[in-house]
Amino acid sequence: MRIAVTGASGLLGTAVTAAAIDGGHSVVALDRPGALGSLAVDAVRRVDVDLTDYLTVKDAVQGCDAVIHLAALVSPLMAPEPVVHHNNVMASYNALLAAAENGIRKVCLASSVNAIGGAYSEHPRYDWFPVTEGHPSYSQDPYSLSKWVGEMQAADFARRDPSATIASLRFHALLRDEAHLAEWKNDLPRTAPKDLWGYTALGDAASACLAAVQADFVGSEVIYVVAPTTTALQPTAELLCEHYPDVPVRTELGGRSGFGGFFDCAKAQRLLGLTARTLDHAERAH
Ligand SMILES: NC(=O)c1ccc[n+]([C@@H]2O[C@H](COP(=O)([O-])OP(=O)(O)OC[C@H]3O[C@@H](n4cnc5c(N)ncnc54)[C@H](O)[C@@H]3O)[C@@H](O)[C@H]2O)c1
Repeated sequence: MRIAVTGASGLLGTAVTAAAIDGGHSVVALDRPGALGSLAVDAVRRVDVDLTDYLTVKDAVQGCDAVIHLAALVSPLMAPEPVVHHNNVMASYNALLAAAENGIRKVCLASSVNAIGGAYSEHPRYDWFPVTEGHPSYSQDPYSLSKWVGEMQAADFARRDPSATIASLRFHALLRDEAHLAEWKNDLPRTAPKDLWGYTALGDAASACLAAVQADFVGSEVIYVVAPTTTALQPTAELLCEHYPDVPVRTELGGRSGFGGFFDCAKAQRLLGLTARTLDHAERAH
């Protein structure tokens, strides 16, 4: 496949681009002017583009079979609030429109667990555990809202073309490897209770993006891709009692190790054939 990857020089973009090349695909890498210099992957066509400028995006993805849209300002604190929101919702809209107008029917959007609120909420709200894709959004910040809006845009474009396959993948904190996880656990972000002590292995996120543009479902689907175990030092049952005693638990959390995660990723297995991994050596032994 010829795959357009937006945000190609970012953390996930670099991993997706490398995995796509390894998998025998060709890549058109899109990122802000100047950013692509840092992309250390060969055999890639590079296009400097501001994703908020529709016509250049439309030209750049012409001739591609799929679009993997990753470009975003990845926190509400990276820029003034209107800039974060405008950048992200215009970029996802333009990526979807450019795909549609070029007849590209395979699209993957990087969404986030924060699409329903979480790390950046004053008081995140969870109605049930494990969290499933049908959970309502209670977002309270421009980044999380932009991810939720991106998922709504995806649904709109899927209604326009019923043969399109559009996946919005909800990732958690992207961690590279076991050492990165150990570092993270040692210095757990203060937001960990708000977004439920989760993470996603970077390799799994890249694999999920590629699986999404090769999947055979049609329509728009939101899909959690989160590691099956937490980053917490306490077992999951204790986290529940201490932080979320009133949230109904639909299916037992904890898993065999007692450190099972809060997100239901059965849909990723069903639609993408992907089982998200734990990076924790000790957990893998269970
Ligand atoms: N990093 C995480 O922990 C995490 C977690 C959940 C979801 N995500 C999502 O995954 C995606 C990739 O995240 P990442 O960590 O690789 O981010 P990153 O910041 O490393 O990379 C994002 C890239 O997007 C580019 N970009 C942003 N706005 C652009 C624009 N208007 N035009 C062109 N390029 C633009 C930036 O230049 C950058 O290279 C994002 O959509 C993010 O919301 C990331």
